[in-house]
Amino acid sequence: MKHYSIAVIPGDGIGPEVMSEGLKVLKVIEEIHGGVRFNKDSFEWNCDYYLKHGKMMPDNALGILKDYDSILLGAIGAESVPDHISVWELILPIRRAFQQYINLRPIKLLRGIEGPLRNKTNNIDFVVIRENTEGEYTNIGGRLHQNTPYELAVQNNVFTRYGIERVINYAYSLAEKRRKKRLTVATKSNGIYHTMPYWDEIAKEVGQKYPKIKTDYCHIDALSAYFVTKPEYFDVVVGSNLFGDILTDLGAAIVGGLGIAPSGNINPEKNFPSMFEPIHGSAPDIAGKGISNPIALIWSIGLMMEHLNFKNIADLIVKSIEEVLVARTVLTPDLGGNASTVEVGDQIIEEMIKLSVKSF
Ligand code: IPM
Ligand code: MG
Repeated sequence: MKHYSIAVIPGDGIGPEVMSEGLKVLKVIEEIHGGVRFNKDSFEWNCDYYLKHGKMMPDNALGILKDYDSILLGAIGAESVPDHISVWELILPIRRAFQQYINLRPIKLLRGIEGPLRNKTNNIDFVVIRENTEGEYTNIGGRLHQNTPYELAVQNNVFTRYGIERVINYAYSLAEKRRKKRLTVATKSNGIYHTMPYWDEIAKEVGQKYPKIKTDYCHIDALSAYFVTKPEYFDVVVGSNLFGDILTDLGAAIVGGLGIAPSGNINPEKNFPSMFEPIHGSAPDIAGKGISNPIALIWSIGLMMEHLNFKNIADLIVKSIEEVLVARTVLTPDLGGNASTVEVGDQIIEEMIKLSVKSF
């Protein structure tokens, strides 16, 4: 029997709703597999916590989380707390402290999804690797001449050799395992003078170690257009923190929307826990109505299972989601249905049980 400790942070808005479906899935995995147990601890660190305590997490939060095998996060953000506080005091410290330098986001058109590009192609299956610890997301910089007409703000981007090398290496090793053996490097070295040429330069250096992989460099503006006009071309796309962030919302949109798009914040060396979370946010507009789509969170659990070396469970989760999508009878409103969060969760679990009888 293998035991895994999972720190669960349901968060704000629709986070707790989708998380409770995720917890049901973890339970069903234990039943199906028989050889795995999850010891789950839930932490109510969110914007309400901030309003009570003046901080998003207790001071020793990272010390507490450090010993878990994985972290599952719902979504963070509420109108009561400025976004830069909720993000900079919860999500970003976790991604950084635990060296989750890979943000892995599959962009895959699942069976049963009629994407907005349905007339163009049905073959969308790539992964965006987003650098997750530096780049444009820094708190280096400041403001000067505040409250004067010549007030100014400076925000510094940080690109380190170490940071670039490790994310490009990861992207290449992933490309080696995939069908098309192609890596697209997102850049903007025509407009950004220092950092992007440096990013390209190091990517080229690293690329020499992977002669079997076809590499192309694509400026972020053109790349965004290609996501729409020829998405079937891509296999692995690697980008800086901000470029990866923007590309993956667009990626999610072309394969059925944010309601289904998963992500993993991964520390490949497994020196620290990795964190799995849907790409979507806390969606305050629909929170509490019981209609949020739990698929993104449940698929993120699939990524977690893959990271914990249970590839067969990860496949089972994706297949079960696909069965529900193909049947089209139990879908949340974002996918054109009228089912509730709980009904979709239950349906996926039913499929998992059905399919596992065949495959285990
Ligand atoms: C994401 C989100 C976050 C990010 C926000 C909430 C800071 O958009 O995970 O894509 O930009 O990293
Ligand atoms: Mg984002």
